[in-house]
Amino acid sequence: MALLDQTLAFGAKGYAWLPDLRRRSHGRPIALRIGGQSAVAISGPDAARFFYEQGHLERHTALPAPVVDTLFGRGVHTLDGEAHRARKALFVELLMHEDGIDTLASLTGKIFDETIDGLRGGGPVSLFDETARVLSEAAARWTGVPEDGSLDDDLVAMVDGFATLGPRHLRARLARRRRERQLAGLIDAARRQEPTGEPLSKIAHHLENGYLLDSRTAAVELINIIRPTTAVAWLAAFAGHALDRWPGTRAPLRSGDDDYTLAFVHEVRRFYPFAPFLGGRARRDLRFQSTDIAKGTLVLLDVYGQHHDPRVWPEPYEFRPERFLGRRIGEFELIPQGGGDPRSGHRCPGEKITIAVLGTLVQRLAKLDYYLPPQNTDIDLSRVPARPRSGVKIVIPQ
Ligand code: HEM
Repeated sequence: MALLDQTLAFGAKGYAWLPDLRRRSHGRPIALRIGGQSAVAISGPDAARFFYEQGHLERHTALPAPVVDTLFGRGVHTLDGEAHRARKALFVELLMHEDGIDTLASLTGKIFDETIDGLRGGGPVSLFDETARVLSEAAARWTGVPEDGSLDDDLVAMVDGFATLGPRHLRARLARRRRERQLAGLIDAARRQEPTGEPLSKIAHHLENGYLLDSRTAAVELINIIRPTTAVAWLAAFAGHALDRWPGTRAPLRSGDDDYTLAFVHEVRRFYPFAPFLGGRARRDLRFQSTDIAKGTLVLLDVYGQHHDPRVWPEPYEFRPERFLGRRIGEFELIPQGGGDPRSGHRCPGEKITIAVLGTLVQRLAKLDYYLPPQNTDIDLSRVPARPRSGVKIVIPQ
């Protein structure tokens, strides 16, 4: 029987789309069609291991053009094999060393504190908007990109518009085009100067097989650092939502308990929706859980479904940071930023930065005296990427 194309169903259901389909197949791999192509959806730690197994899938033919033209750009996300390994080395060098992580986390904390001081005694502000501003300023200062007052809007637009074809998508395309052009100019300028330790300069002077990257590609990779750092604002708004719904989580955060803070951060990344699924294309005929996957088939790893599967996470709809205390997390278990080894595969090299920056923000939020005026903080799961509807409005008394 011919399968119905699921493109419209994804548009209508968002994060619930694949979990609903997989429920019908009792969690087994399910064949479907999307964008006119054959696909198989899989989920669970074994599925994540299969997805990241070297040689199973390729990425460059799997990413839809609207996602590349907004969210990712034509850089590391779209490379495979040796070209990916060479480019990934640049990100590992820039993002995975403790000094860089600490510098960005402490810059974020400092700018957040200054921002909060300026907001005391004022009217309601959106936690999402304020943290996006803080994070983009921190990322700009850290990397060496001059802030111009609208950088945060452009970076947020690139993330916000990748999964829709409406006005949000157009805004995302324009923002990317504008920023790639501007940052390519900065890369050219940095090349006329002596190298410094700043990421902008390091990307500008980075050699791959003895050659500099073309300036547009270097700009894409620079955006691949400042854009996702700003995207931590989605997680900060979710953290604000969690602190409001589960106020019992505040006390251990307020006391500066680092183990609990880490557990809280992991639970935010597990519980709340961000990446709905990841896609790759079968390089050859494959087989997973007794299901044949023909060469060329799209393989969709259901990230949101995996994080809400009771076989992996008991009582998955309970927000319980304690589930992460005193236990090791498997490489393929918690996968909001991909699975496997970030040095060799596609897993996010910014995961440690995300954890450090979000931890800094949640401890500050938990200590802060603020209240939520009446508002709608519902999270619409059909909107990708989702966020609390109001952006979490807060009032900070004098
Ligand atoms: C909101 C927080 C973040 C989320 C949810 C997130 C999520 C992801 C996901 C799902 C991937 C793709 C994994 C795959 O294709 O297998 C990824 C890749 C990537 N992320 Fe993140 N990320 C976040 C923060 C960051 C930060 C802070 C940085 C840099 C400072 C960063 C840089 C990257 C890069 C460069 C890649 C491409 C890796 C590759 O293709 O090898 N991300 N991220």
